[in-house]
Amino acid sequence: MDERSFKGAYYTPLHVVDKAYDKLAETLGNNWQKEYIVWDMCCGVGNLEVKHSNPRNIYMSTLDQADVDVMLATKTCVAATRFQYDYLNDDITDDGNIDYTLTNKMPESLRKAISDGKKILVLINPPYAEATSSENINTSGAADASKVGVAKTKFAATGMKEYGKASNELFTQFVARVAKEIPTATLAMFSKLKYVNSPTMNDFRTVWNANYLGGFVVHSKSFDGLKGDFPIGFLVWGTNQNLISKNVLNEITTEVFDKNVHPIGEKCFYIVPDAQLLTNWIERPKTNKTEVIPLKNTITPATATKDLRGTKWSDNAIAFLWCNSNDVQQAPRTALFSSGFNGGHGIFINPDNIWQAVIVFSVRRLVKPTWLNDRDQFLQPTEPLTDEFKNDCLVWMLFNGSNLTASANGLQWNGKTWSIVNHFIPYTEEEVNAPGRFESDFMVQYMAGKTFSEEAKAVLEKGKLLWQAYFAHTDVHSVREELKLNRPDVGWYQVRKALQARNASGDFAPVSFKPFEEAYKTLTEKLQPMVYELGFLKN
Ligand SMILES: C[S@@+](CC[C@H](N)C(=O)[O-])C[C@H]1O[C@@H](n2cnc3c(N)ncnc32)[C@H](O)[C@@H]1O
Repeated sequence: MDERSFKGAYYTPLHVVDKAYDKLAETLGNNWQKEYIVWDMCCGVGNLEVKHSNPRNIYMSTLDQADVDVMLATKTCVAATRFQYDYLNDDITDDGNIDYTLTNKMPESLRKAISDGKKILVLINPPYAEATSSENINTSGAADASKVGVAKTKFAATGMKEYGKASNELFTQFVARVAKEIPTATLAMFSKLKYVNSPTMNDFRTVWNANYLGGFVVHSKSFDGLKGDFPIGFLVWGTNQNLISKNVLNEITTEVFDKNVHPIGEKCFYIVPDAQLLTNWIERPKTNKTEVIPLKNTITPATATKDLRGTKWSDNAIAFLWCNSNDVQQAPRTALFSSGFNGGHGIFINPDNIWQAVIVFSVRRLVKPTWLNDRDQFLQPTEPLTDEFKNDCLVWMLFNGSNLTASANGLQWNGKTWSIVNHFIPYTEEEVNAPGRFESDFMVQYMAGKTFSEEAKAVLEKGKLLWQAYFAHTDVHSVREELKLNRPDVGWYQVRKALQARNASGDFAPVSFKPFEEAYKTLTEKLQPMVYELGFLKN
């Protein structure tokens, strides 16, 4: 990302601006262009204002003088007041207050409009950069140097003490200064939605007092230069920082536009208390002093040395459930390991919490992330969970591609040799014709006495055929070495991969996965709608 795009120097496409103007007319009335003084304090080259029919009412300021010069040269909004102004650094005192005499860049008439309490509409599309996010952490895990400066703006450093993590993001820095400077502004803003529903923005929502007036979300792909697939909101808010009574946000409903800016319906975004989030549903067992090998994959020891996690175990633990963050976007970061995971962020599974871990795993993996649901938070169930659902989830998890439980001897890490034991084999040695004893029969004991649905039974039956097929032959040395097939208690990952390698080699009679895949698909399609029906996600 070059410096300009880091600062947010991409433009709002004019056909999206059209929709914003429709929304402003709908929420503020047809006369909004006459009634409100507009200030866009991150106007770039003015795309948000070019359609305004009353430019004498507009103030446009932005970081780069070059952008102001472009507006002057292209005669953009000639009758508006246009000026260079660094909204996050200019006129901010050491104690986080605003003193216009520090730079004297603010036009006198705008200062007066603010102090007279005129109706002011802040119309902005601020930059989206944040100090720490997966997007600006490079592959080695270090923060991208070009973004380290985000939290260091003068306003974030001095004026946002009570805003928590919101001080890490440029767009919430804009909102926070507006709240201080123009406490009763109407705010119409293009931005990501995390200020509305992310748990990391709880502090922000406690301080910021706003009433939702209406808005839409549009696919990020409709903006040039934005990577990823996520909703960009254009939300209109009546703010009032002077009110003592706090407006509590529970949900907001928006119109939805796809990447071609065609309307495709409505979407509700919910704001739920932390206590209702799925991530807080299971008690997290503590680590103990037992050392284990940290894995970066099923049977691959960690190579990272910095910020290494997963080196300690927990009392009675039988696996580690990696489950990072609580939203749908992060749901692909869900997997089961037979030892510690080198990135941490998860829950030890033991005989007491396994029933819940199974559900957390399944719920997170059953729903496919899309651009529109990706910021939705997983919730604790609101409906009673039947045994059938719990047992279906158990079987679904055992045969999911992210069940990375495995066994291995001879893993090398930190100058020592380590073994991992698989506690997640749903069959006895006899059932799958294993040549030797499985070290753990935990799963067989756990499943004993449970009743399984027809769909789950079909998966178990077809899965058993694959396990039997695995034990019918011995793999070539290279495959045994690669998959660490040196113990009988192999895991689903090892069984699958070994059979796939045999099929690819042509040296063995091919083993078809089809019957298994069909049974698994049937179980998947049975469970998917239940994620919503049971309240784990809201539609
Ligand atoms: C996402 S762009 C939007 C530009 C324009 N409003 C539009 O919608 O097409 C964000 C703009 O904010 C400007 N900007 C970034 N940091 C700023 C700051 N501290 N003060 C004022 N403007 C800033 C960038 O230079 C960029 O032009």
